[in-house]
Amino acid sequence: MKMLEAERGDTAVVDTAAVDTAPGQAVYRPWVLFAYDLYVLKLSCSLAWRCPARVLLAQYDRLVSGKHLDVGVGTGYFLDRCRFPVERPEVHLLDLNENSLRHAARRLARYQPTQHLGDVLAPIELTERFDSVGLNFLLHCLPGNLRVKGRALRELAKVVTDEGVLFGSTILGRGVAHNAMARKLMAVYNRRGIFGNEEDDEATLREALEAAFERVDVRVVGCVASFEARSPRARSAAEGREAG
Ligand SMILES: C[S@@+](CC[C@H](N)C(=O)[O-])C[C@H]1O[C@@H](n2cnc3c(N)ncnc32)[C@H](O)[C@@H]1O
Repeated sequence: MKMLEAERGDTAVVDTAAVDTAPGQAVYRPWVLFAYDLYVLKLSCSLAWRCPARVLLAQYDRLVSGKHLDVGVGTGYFLDRCRFPVERPEVHLLDLNENSLRHAARRLARYQPTQHLGDVLAPIELTERFDSVGLNFLLHCLPGNLRVKGRALRELAKVVTDEGVLFGSTILGRGVAHNAMARKLMAVYNRRGIFGNEEDDEATLREALEAAFERVDVRVVGCVASFEARSPRARSAAEGREAG
């Protein structure tokens, strides 16, 4: 079980003593991944979260690049279906769960993806940079509030190229209308630690993104916030210091 010490970030005070990232990924056993596309991406997305998967796929089509890092890969559905701008993209997959990594890598074998086993809330160990970083349906699986989750955004900002983009989506727990099915799923998933999004709303998502990137766009469809973020701050600050 991985425990992560809370820390004082550059721009936001992380306000929990420790977070446990295990429950948010432990559920992704092989049989869950087998059912995931139908149950989560076809049924829950449309019926509970009121944001059909095609909305999220359109975001991939628009923003994925020829050198892409996907974080929290699940079954690899969106990377399998999206249109890359080049014939032979360089694809990297990062996930805390080996089942997810294996499942997605098998599905995307035609791209020969590079696999990275790791926790998005831990310091990033990748040294390369990517023109696009996808973070789809991951933040709501992480524990804590969006200030804690902001650590992941700040770490990932370090591996986005100057012209690159970080994009994705997350299910919000506050400030959106949950229908009966959404309320039921929210309650069960949050109780079991599969989701940690009861406090997540559009404003705090935007704040967490703006702490890591200079240019941020957030749109809400149903209970889902889609975001895209450009011009990573970490590097602007570091490069500014170097230049000075
Ligand atoms: C809801 S699935 C999303 C799958 C895919 N991105 C999609 O949109 O369908 C969440 C994925 O994030 C992974 N995950 C959960 N917590 C994580 C963490 N702390 N670090 C890295 N990956 C994590 C899970 O193992 C799972 O593969």
